[in-house]
Amino acid sequence: MQKTALITGASSGIGYELAKIFAREGYNLVITARRENRLKPLKEELESTGKITVHIFPADLSKADTPKKLHQFVIENNIPVSVLVNNAGIGDYGLFKDSEWGKLSTMIDLNIKSLTHITHLFIPELLKHPKAYIMNVASTAAFQPGPLMSVYYASKHYVLAFSEAIANELHDNEITVSALCPGPTESEFQDTANMEKSKLFDRFPVATSQEVAEYGFKSLMSGKRVAIYGWMNKISPKFISLVPRAVVTAVVRKIQERND
Ligand SMILES: NC(=O)c1ccc[n+]([C@@H]2O[C@H](COP(=O)([O-])OP(=O)(O)OC[C@H]3O[C@@H](n4cnc5c(N)ncnc54)[C@H](OP(=O)(O)O)[C@@H]3O)[C@@H](O)[C@H]2O)c1
Repeated sequence: MQKTALITGASSGIGYELAKIFAREGYNLVITARRENRLKPLKEELESTGKITVHIFPADLSKADTPKKLHQFVIENNIPVSVLVNNAGIGDYGLFKDSEWGKLSTMIDLNIKSLTHITHLFIPELLKHPKAYIMNVASTAAFQPGPLMSVYYASKHYVLAFSEAIANELHDNEITVSALCPGPTESEFQDTANMEKSKLFDRFPVATSQEVAEYGFKSLMSGKRVAIYGWMNKISPKFISLVPRAVVTAVVRKIQERND
């Protein structure tokens, strides 16, 4: 039976590149995001090889009923999902006190609630396979507090902790769980998070979405529970653990502050 990967946030950036990689590796796909006009051409491109089938599910995953609808779509179409990639996520740059509640609330719903609900709904499907995989896209933001993006950093702490915990629980069930932790990466994220002028992207090496996705795929398949992209990003959590937390937090704020 051909394997199927379900990828959220596949209309751009890391998710888009992950879709191309899973297709290359012979997986059928279910791809989801809000922009149908991005998912359709990707489906056509990936199916043009004649080797795989791509289902698209355009939807807003921050809405409470979407995870159930997505699950229902997969069940009704009899799609045997053995890989779940929870990639969709957004950020928001600015002081917490000045942030718009609507955007913060959507971020929590998307980055935390929807990711958790989808995982919960799909574990029974994954358990039907002798070997299954979950990739949750966290971030290097998961390792320290992030002034000026406080809710985003905290949401990624959640994704990392949740992933490590269920990796432990699901190990005996032959489900590999990997938390992918990219550092700054070229994608549409900077624009949607309103952080194009943050020093983070000026002063630190910026990976391409393709590089991150290739690393994420390899890490997932090799069973890496916490997959941090890039050597600087890898040593940073070790260094951070040696420094007082208030100092780390102050440094992150400096890094996040705009140039102007
Ligand atoms: N870029 C970075 O520097 C960086 C660093 C660390 C971690 N990450 C994480 O990597 C993941 C992918 O981000 P990216 O960098 O590839 O950014 P991106 O290019 O902005 O991609 C985000 C994806 O999420 C989808 N999405 C956003 N809101 C959604 C919603 N309400 N419902 C359904 N889908 C939604 C977007 O599609 P639609 O707009 O079509 O819905 C898009 O496909 C995120 O979890 C992000 O936190 C990014």
